[in-house]
Amino acid sequence: MAQFWKPGTEKPDAQVVDDEEGGVLFIPGSNSLSSSSSGYGYASIEKQRQRLPVYKYRNAILYLVETHATTIIVGETGSGKTTQIPQYLIEAGWAAGGRLIACTQPRRLAVQAVSSRVAQEMGVKLGDQVGYTIRFEDVTNQDETVLKFVTDGVLLREMMNDPLLTKYSAIMVDEAHERSISTDILLGLLKKIQRRRPELRLIIASATIEAKSMADFFRPRKKRREPENEENGLKVEPAILSVEGRGFNVQINFAEEPVQDYVQAAVSTVLLIHERESTGDVLVFLTGQDDIDAAVHLFNEEIQTNRKRSSGLVVLPLYSGLPRADQELVFTPTARGKRKVVISTNIAETSLTLEGIVYVVDSGFSKQRFYNPISDIENLVVAPISRASAKQRAGRAGRVRPGKCYRLYTEEYFLNHMSNEGIPEIQRSNLVSCVIQLKALGIDNILGFDWPASPSPEAMIRALEVLYSLGILDDDAKLTSPTGFQVAEIPLDPMISKMIIASSQLGCSEEIITIAAALSVQSIWISARGIQKESDEAKLRFAAAEGDHVTFLNVYKGFHQSRKSSQWCHKNFVNYHAMKKVVEVREQLKRVAQRIGLVLKSCESDMQVVKKAVTAGFFANACRLEPYSHDGMYKTLRGSEEVYIHPSSVLFRVNPKWVIFNSLVSTDRKYMRNVMTIDPSWLLEAAPHFYQLQQPNLLH
Ligand code: CDP
Ligand code: MG
Repeated sequence: MAQFWKPGTEKPDAQVVDDEEGGVLFIPGSNSLSSSSSGYGYASIEKQRQRLPVYKYRNAILYLVETHATTIIVGETGSGKTTQIPQYLIEAGWAAGGRLIACTQPRRLAVQAVSSRVAQEMGVKLGDQVGYTIRFEDVTNQDETVLKFVTDGVLLREMMNDPLLTKYSAIMVDEAHERSISTDILLGLLKKIQRRRPELRLIIASATIEAKSMADFFRPRKKRREPENEENGLKVEPAILSVEGRGFNVQINFAEEPVQDYVQAAVSTVLLIHERESTGDVLVFLTGQDDIDAAVHLFNEEIQTNRKRSSGLVVLPLYSGLPRADQELVFTPTARGKRKVVISTNIAETSLTLEGIVYVVDSGFSKQRFYNPISDIENLVVAPISRASAKQRAGRAGRVRPGKCYRLYTEEYFLNHMSNEGIPEIQRSNLVSCVIQLKALGIDNILGFDWPASPSPEAMIRALEVLYSLGILDDDAKLTSPTGFQVAEIPLDPMISKMIIASSQLGCSEEIITIAAALSVQSIWISARGIQKESDEAKLRFAAAEGDHVTFLNVYKGFHQSRKSSQWCHKNFVNYHAMKKVVEVREQLKRVAQRIGLVLKSCESDMQVVKKAVTAGFFANACRLEPYSHDGMYKTLRGSEEVYIHPSSVLFRVNPKWVIFNSLVSTDRKYMRNVMTIDPSWLLEAAPHFYQLQQPNLLH
């Protein structure tokens, strides 16, 4: 790899330290424990548990939790925080007497993976004593479950019915370093709950957190001088515990030249590793399902055309939304003589630990949300990761023995251009959902809320404005009745929820619920490099002139008529697993709709009302084709942002004059995903206050 790769000369820092040779990273505690390269596959579960770094701290952790309202635990990925600490709590009696323990994760896939691991370690069936709840999936048992893994979003929803979370004796907020928007809201609310329920114990766990700033956040402001920090013998001052890791050396290699196509470069790098390096699995960090699928496709081509070079490679994707059976494969130990290659989003950065990884290939990118309150545009952008993330990714190679990390960017870039830390999601997101959740919990002064990191006032004002236009907030910025309260009950983006509520009035809720379900999966299509033409042709069979939303209805109808056949999906380039998910989500949404008193009705073939219902939710995303544009450029009515129809849309190249879109993704340009044609007069109808004040002749 000499021509392409250059060893790094990185300088020491807090988490990762150079050794004297330079270019080789040391992760503290390295070599302090020996282990075989095959991991712990043969040890009993109990032995495996005792070998984890947190085990040494078991008593210390339990003591701190017993004596402190809040305990902050920092420890490297894989040290056993997520899987062990909740079990310690059960063993120490925190789940006795009908009380529950919760452990939150920012990602759904992690919730499923860790809960199934913990159930296995405890020798119980997942869903009995140990269960999990994610949006649209509840695998718990009301009478038996004592430990629940949940996304932080789910716990926020539970607060709507039980604002003080009285069922729980202890809550572990995990992956706090990720600073996801829901984690931040949750931390703010838990801090409030603790004041009312001092007996509730919080455990905040993270891989790299700045423990001090988190402790400052949870430190109560002193009112009186004495007693300083004790309430009923319980210390209100947060405790901090750092679990010593035990990673091995990871040798860092940088690309010598900037890389043009990171998917292609990642695939070539893995093939080189396979050719030249000793045994050990490979973990590749790409950004999302689309480029992961593209990489898997390239590997499959390679495996077919060059059997010898690729023999023994087992390539597996890992991203959220992956079917359970495929997830399990990722965690299955590699067979002798094989080399597993896991191609993952940044979910494998800290949320999940894969055993047996010795090589990491880091694209240097991840998908991140960015929001601009001026243009009111939020989009998902493939953006460079931070140095902190790059180090986390590299660390994944050193779990079982010394490893190597190949970074698909230059060292110069790493040192001089990468940002040190990521920005908390709350500071780069649209706050519409967040505002509704807080309002539904009775928190009216949102700017005055105690945030771990404050959102920008501009973004907050924009959110209030949009919610007002959607009829969700009233003049006093309170939830409207019934719309506002109904929207808060539906576990979806408020714009989608509003669309569902409008459909009940317009008599097309059956159709709109199907559309809402289809929008909740990443894509209902199978797409990959090399099969673009065939899949585009297949899409044409369903394509509706109205756009992607009505096209979803056609696909759903076909799927239904085929009696949910996987062959039918295969033939039509439709993603079978995604469709099964759509059916599941649809059922759940129907139940929610009935619960909140919506009328379930089909409009049969009247697509006009379907489109009006979509407009009632998404009017803010209206765009007009630029009159003299040759390349299909649109401008958003609000903010005049330049946007284009995404190639995956059935309206790509059709370019109708007026459209609304569901979301934006940015690559070289901003692309609208899930696009629908509209009649501009509907905009004034759907949101008079939103459009009338802005350039009155805009709509002509
Ligand atoms: O949370 P933290 O990163 O500190 O570690 P963990 O997720 O509790 O993982 C501890 C150990 O459990 C690791 O050695 C993992 O390999 C193992 N584990 C597993 O084998 N399968 C899972 N689904 C989750 C964890
Ligand atoms: Mg963890």
